[in-house]
Amino acid sequence: MLSAAEHIASVIGDDAIPFDVFMSLALYGPGGFYTASELVHHGAGRRSDFLTSPEVGPLFGHVIARFLDAQWHEQGRPDSFVVIEHGAGPGTLARGVFAANPDCASALRYHTVEISDRQRALHPDEVVAHASPPVDVQANVVIANELLDNLPFRMFVYDNGWREAWVTRARDGKFNEVLRLPRDEDSALVNQFPPADLGARLPIQRAAGDWLREVLATSPKARVVVFDYARERTWDVVALKWREWLRTYRGHERGSHYLSDVGKQDITVDVMIDQLALVAPPLSVRTQSQFLQLWGIDDLVAEGDAYWAAKASNPDLRAMLMRSRSSEAAALCDPAGLGGFSVIEWG
Ligand SMILES: C[S@@+](CC[C@H](N)C(=O)[O-])C[C@H]1O[C@@H](n2cnc3c(N)ncnc32)[C@H](O)[C@@H]1O
Repeated sequence: MLSAAEHIASVIGDDAIPFDVFMSLALYGPGGFYTASELVHHGAGRRSDFLTSPEVGPLFGHVIARFLDAQWHEQGRPDSFVVIEHGAGPGTLARGVFAANPDCASALRYHTVEISDRQRALHPDEVVAHASPPVDVQANVVIANELLDNLPFRMFVYDNGWREAWVTRARDGKFNEVLRLPRDEDSALVNQFPPADLGARLPIQRAAGDWLREVLATSPKARVVVFDYARERTWDVVALKWREWLRTYRGHERGSHYLSDVGKQDITVDVMIDQLALVAPPLSVRTQSQFLQLWGIDDLVAEGDAYWAAKASNPDLRAMLMRSRSSEAAALCDPAGLGGFSVIEWG
């Protein structure tokens, strides 16, 4: 089987491909970071490349279950309450929601959307798993945790005018960047940005905007909740070093340059809230810490502490899980980490 680098080289040939196409192939093409063979375990999880909120432990799923119950009640306790989770990874959040045994359990129809066959195969029996968004299923709630940062984006570089980054191959076989004029559909958007320092970069996140547009069109009445590392304004990142908002990860460590180690490292980008707002203005933007507090994380920790105190002399498995709630909450609400993520809602 071809490696991601070999496959991308064959697609490029003697020409070049835009950076967003390169990122899509490096992550989701043959041999890509999320699609590579079963033997390679990439993605979210304790033994994988990065730790997401559901992977910290069951507490995140428990708070989401409370949020879903509130939505279920607010939407009139429908007999069929459809939740669609996009970019579900190995299905850990769904598992956590069911383990919390929410009030809406008998009505809950939980669909997952996951592009990677290997990750999708791990989803729990309670869910209906899809490789792409189901067009005939209307959701009451749509959730995406750390999906949008993984969607391919177009990258622009200032070189006496904004130019688009494309990827080609040098004589030694390494991948190289070349700059081209913006494509027609990007020109107006990109040229509204003022001149910047030579080499300054900015991301244009068309795939993230398209995702939101499609979700809102398919499920116009849904509450849509996106959890991700995000920035309010695209212009704010232009002055930063690009490695602060375009990051690679491998084995819980920051990875190398995005054109290196192709298919062996994740490529992620901060989500630009102002670009999503062009599709639809959000209802609210909170930090993850604020969101989790709003939906009762403190009560769940207090309940865990009390249970542990009652069982500490003769702890059972449940007592151990209850005890770990406080350390999970600390990680999930850490303002310098997961707690500083943005929770962006529409609906
Ligand atoms: C960073 S992981 C997050 C996984 C999970 N949500 C979590 O929090 O642990 C992003 C996931 O989104 C999936 N993904 C990327 N693009 C997708 C798409 N267009 N449709 C569905 N899933 C996608 C990837 O395969 C990957 O499993």
